Amino acid sequence: MAISLKVNGATHQIDADPATPLLYVLRNDLALNGAKFGCGLGQCGSCMVMVEGEAVLSCVTPIMLLEGREITTVEGLGTIEEPGPLQAAFIEMQAAQCGYCIPGMMMSAQALLQKNPAPSDEDIRDALSTNLCRCGTHMRILAAIRRAGEVMQSAGMKTTTNGRTG
Ligand code: FES
Ligand code: FES
Repeated sequence: MAISLKVNGATHQIDADPATPLLYVLRNDLALNGAKFGCGLGQCGSCMVMVEGEAVLSCVTPIMLLEGREITTVEGLGTIEEPGPLQAAFIEMQAAQCGYCIPGMMMSAQALLQKNPAPSDEDIRDALSTNLCRCGTHMRILAAIRRAGEVMQSAGMKTTTNGRTG
C-alpha cells in the first residue's frame, strides 16, 4: 500500500515497506540527497530533517509515522540561486569543511530559529547537541546560526509551513 508523504510542499505516493526509514525514501526514491547517512542509529544528526517544525532523525523514523505530515529537508530551505537565510549564513561564515554534517546542522538550526528567533549560544548548543561535526567547525557553525537569526529578524521574515522564509 502506498504511503503519501508531503516533502518540501510536494506530495509523493511512496510504494515501500511502511517500516522503511524516511532517510532511505528521501535519498533513494525522491532524489533528495541533502540528508546524509552517517550512523543510521540516531547518534550523529547528519540525517536530520524537520517534521512539522520539529527536528527529526530521518534514519530512525519509519515512513508509516509520517503519512500526510509536513516534512522539510535542507532542499526546502532555499535553492542554489536563492539560498535561504541559513544557507547564506553558512556560506558567509564558511561554516562547512567537508560539509557532511551541514544539512543536518541546518535543519536543527531551522527548527530552533522558527521557535526562538534570537537564541543564546546555550540555546544553539542545546538544539544542536545531537549533531556531530567530525571536522570541528563548531564555532563557525554557531556563528552562522547567530547570523541567520539576525538576518531573519532584521528582515522581519516569517517562516512558512515548509520551513522556508519569506
Ligand atoms: S544517520 Fe541518522 S543520526 Fe546518524
Ligand atoms: S564539516 Fe565535516 S563533519 Fe562537519
